[in-house]
Amino acid sequence: MFKHLFFVLIVICLVSFTISGCGEKAEVALSPLGKGINLSALEDGEKSDSYLDKEKTYKNIAKSGFDHIRLPVDFRNYSDGGGELDEKFLSRLEAIIKMANAEGLTVILDFHGWYNLNVGNGDDELFISIWKNLAESFKNIDSGIVFELINEPHTTEGGDLDAETLMELQCKTIEEIRRISPERTVIIALAEWNGPWMLKDFEMPDYDNIIVALHTYEPLEFTHQGQKWAGTDDVHMPLTEDMLEGLTGQLELIADYKKQSGNEVILSEFGVVTNGAISESDVEKYLSCITSFAEKNDIPWTYWEYNGSFGAYKEGFWGMRSGWQENVLNALIKAEE
Ligand code: BGC
Repeated sequence: MFKHLFFVLIVICLVSFTISGCGEKAEVALSPLGKGINLSALEDGEKSDSYLDKEKTYKNIAKSGFDHIRLPVDFRNYSDGGGELDEKFLSRLEAIIKMANAEGLTVILDFHGWYNLNVGNGDDELFISIWKNLAESFKNIDSGIVFELINEPHTTEGGDLDAETLMELQCKTIEEIRRISPERTVIIALAEWNGPWMLKDFEMPDYDNIIVALHTYEPLEFTHQGQKWAGTDDVHMPLTEDMLEGLTGQLELIADYKKQSGNEVILSEFGVVTNGAISESDVEKYLSCITSFAEKNDIPWTYWEYNGSFGAYKEGFWGMRSGWQENVLNALIKAEE
């Protein structure tokens, strides 16, 4: 009897040893993108970013019901003129990705800040080279990372990213990435700030595992009111039914596109200032309008943002009085359950 039991135990040990690969922690199975949150800092050298390096950030996010994070990064700040990425930065990024993945959170790496690059002047070479280096650096992490090629491209300020040029740039970039990482899921942008109104003339390029990113802050005067940095110090307005109608109109463009085309979409940015400029109940009502629409129409989303002026979570001084903004979390997660 004991001999049999011993034999069974040995077999169980051997099987689990083989599955988990020499006693290493088995890779956490990550779900497809559903509900996520933007971790803003690395797109802007002036923001405090130390919370990105703490395990507790990812535990906190996963525990609250999110399944992914989006990491906006201006990779130009961490690369040389040929697109080679700084080693120290890459190790930091890898540590962040691993901490997030260990909690079951997929990481969207978003190239933020270079919205007005000029392909005519050769900016595309650096852009593509950075993505090739990122693909190379993370080719061993499969489902845990998704690449979002470019954030809110638009044609002002000397750039030339009209819809056609942007699409050519993205296709070239996808091809280079896929040479290195054939399975990598890639999120592509729409011209004009990822605006849903651009969907009417949009043709999805013919690649597997592609998702289209949309953004909405409709109406901007409401979502960005009372902020010095946005030049809206003097703007103060309550939420109205007309505003919600306008917002729903944009969401319907996304839902209709998804239904008619069968293509995958993600609302990778939406949000509202949460630092007291808008009443808590208006914040909750505005965000619930988006999340319940998204739930009904099966649209994955990523809230802007975890901390900062649109923050869902407030980090108190020295960690004291830190916590989720209940009204924001209610609208994002609990209201849907
Ligand atoms: C920008 C942030 C801004 C947010 C809401 C993001 O794309 O990078 O600076 O706070 O949009 O406007």
